[in-house]
Amino acid sequence: MKRIVIFASGSGSNAENLIKFFYNSDTASVIQVLTNNPHAKVLDRCKTLNISALSFNRIAFSKSEDVLNILKAAEPDLIVLAGFLWKFPEFILKAFENKVINIHPALLPNYGGKGMYGMHVHEAIVNNKETETGITIHYVNENYDEGATIFQAKCDVLSSDSAEDVAGKIHLLEMEHFPLVVEKLLN
Ligand code: GAR
Repeated sequence: MKRIVIFASGSGSNAENLIKFFYNSDTASVIQVLTNNPHAKVLDRCKTLNISALSFNRIAFSKSEDVLNILKAAEPDLIVLAGFLWKFPEFILKAFENKVINIHPALLPNYGGKGMYGMHVHEAIVNNKETETGITIHYVNENYDEGATIFQAKCDVLSSDSAEDVAGKIHLLEMEHFPLVVEKLLN
C-alpha cells in the first residue's frame, strides 16, 4: 500500500476529496495531513474524516528539521500539495526527490508565481478577458509553480463569468482529475 502525505493551508476541499477517494483504494491511502495554519478548515475536515493532522510553524518547516523528520517517519511515496501556500524548502525537496507534487488553479506557465493563488488567479483570468483556463498538476521544485507538468485540464471562460464562476469550474476540474492523477502516479 502506497502512502500519501498532504500539505494544505486553507479550506482543504482537495485534501478531503483525496482522502475519500483513497478510503477504499487498494493502491494507496492518505496517512497524514500537515498544515501551516492552525485555524485552517482542513483540520476540521481531518477530524471528521479521522485522519491524523498536524499544524507547524515556519521554524519547524524551514529553519529546523522538525517537519523533515515528521515526513521521514511517515515514509511517504508521494507528498501532495493541495492548496498549500508556503514555498517548499529545498532541503525537504532534496530528501523527497520527484515525490512532491502540487495542484495549481491555472494553465501554467500562465498565471503562476508568487501571489498567484486561489481567487487572485481567477480574478486575473476574468480581468484579462481570457477565454479559457484550467488546472495544472506538476512536480515541485525550488521555484514557485515551475516544476515539470504532469497533467493539465482546460475549461472555457465565458465573457459573462465572474471570478466566482471561474472558481466553480476549476473546483469541478480539481475534484474530477486530481485523485486520478495521484493514483496513476502511484501505480
Ligand atoms: C485550489 O484551487 C488549489 O488549486 C489552489 O488553492 C485551492 C485550495 O482549495 N492552489 C493554489 O492556488 C496554489 N498556488 P482547497 O483548500 O479547498 O483544496
